[in-house]
Amino acid sequence: MQRKSLVLSGLALLGASCATPALSAELTISCGAVGAELELCQQGVEAWEAETGHEVEIVSTPNSSTERLSLYQQILSARSGDIDVLQIDVVWPGLLANHLLDLKETLGADAAAGHFDAIVANNTIDDRLVAMPWFTDAGVLYYRKDLLAQYGFAPPETWQQLTDIATEVQAAERQAGNDQMWGYVFQGRAYEGLTCNALEWVASQGGGTIVDADGEITIDNANAAAALDLPAGWIGEITPQGALNYTEEEARGIFQSGNAVFMRNWPYAWSLAQSEDSEVAGKVGVIKLPHGPNGESAAALGGWNLAVSKYSENPELASELVAYLTGEAEQKRRAIEAAYNPTITSLYADEQVLEAVPFFGTLYDTFTNAVARPSAVTGDNYGRVSNAFFNAAHAVLSGDQSGAEAVSQLDGELSRIKRRRW
Ligand code: GLC
Repeated sequence: MQRKSLVLSGLALLGASCATPALSAELTISCGAVGAELELCQQGVEAWEAETGHEVEIVSTPNSSTERLSLYQQILSARSGDIDVLQIDVVWPGLLANHLLDLKETLGADAAAGHFDAIVANNTIDDRLVAMPWFTDAGVLYYRKDLLAQYGFAPPETWQQLTDIATEVQAAERQAGNDQMWGYVFQGRAYEGLTCNALEWVASQGGGTIVDADGEITIDNANAAAALDLPAGWIGEITPQGALNYTEEEARGIFQSGNAVFMRNWPYAWSLAQSEDSEVAGKVGVIKLPHGPNGESAAALGGWNLAVSKYSENPELASELVAYLTGEAEQKRRAIEAAYNPTITSLYADEQVLEAVPFFGTLYDTFTNAVARPSAVTGDNYGRVSNAFFNAAHAVLSGDQSGAEAVSQLDGELSRIKRRRW
């Protein structure tokens, strides 16, 4: 029942051509629906159907990574084969590995050749390739080129500069009649997206990465505390109070309608901001995120992969669909049409890709040096670690705790989680 309604809600979003659910289909794939994601997935799937004559159903899943993980955990722990191909977050291979097929068995030992080594390593658990890289992600800073030029500012390099420019431009724009204008929007809801934003604040100000590569908990330090206090000061000043509940799409909505000077988001927002119905088309620049006095710019490493459920009744066919969707032609199309970062290294030298998304070239280092969340080292405890971290960051943003109180309490919580072993 649950599956059918999910399928229907996914199809409803896909428009009239899919009005009749193909419940007889041989395969089911879950796709994200952030921005143009679902449409893009549908196009890829249709191309594979046309080429092979097989039939696939698309299931749309919640946009919030945190909610999507709960859904997958329910489905997989029931050993249900309802979804054959799962779109999984870069932080989940360790959490879900036991439920996923080793794609080297179905696609061969070289299945992931040509993809970024770091992602292949991330997706390889106990020598099993549990997911094929589909697209990578890194947090970037969007800014209004027109407004910065108009008020005589260079793009910010530090968080303090961002704060100052946002304050001034917001005030001037409001004075000029745009009383909806805000300085900075980002993802402040208590979910995985806030883990990414807060990791960027902390790492770019010398506060570390919550848990280091050896598994040591490092979050209780003065730089991390200060890095959480700074954004708390933005709320209600240059960032709307509502940002405490923003995911990617709410932030994009404000920026794309012309009501924010700066936005932190993932690359997908580029194509949509440049689209015909965008208020800011042609007015947007994309640069690396700012840093603080004690650190360097840090972009959280994101991205999504395609995995095959161990409970699939059609593992070979499901693997073929995964190979097609993660293959070069499809990754190139997704990059050009919708700014999804390829995971195939050679596509970063492709002229058509670079023309469509110039910052894939200018920010190449940002994409290859993005800071990983501590999912590999915390293994199947990562979900708890991330929840504890985003709740701590949210408490500071909401004004309920100081940065110092939050990181000290978080240190205690993480120590308790660590006792279960990671
Ligand atoms: C993006 C990233 C993903 C991250 C999520 C958080 O989808 O690709 O890795 O977990 O945002 O909202």
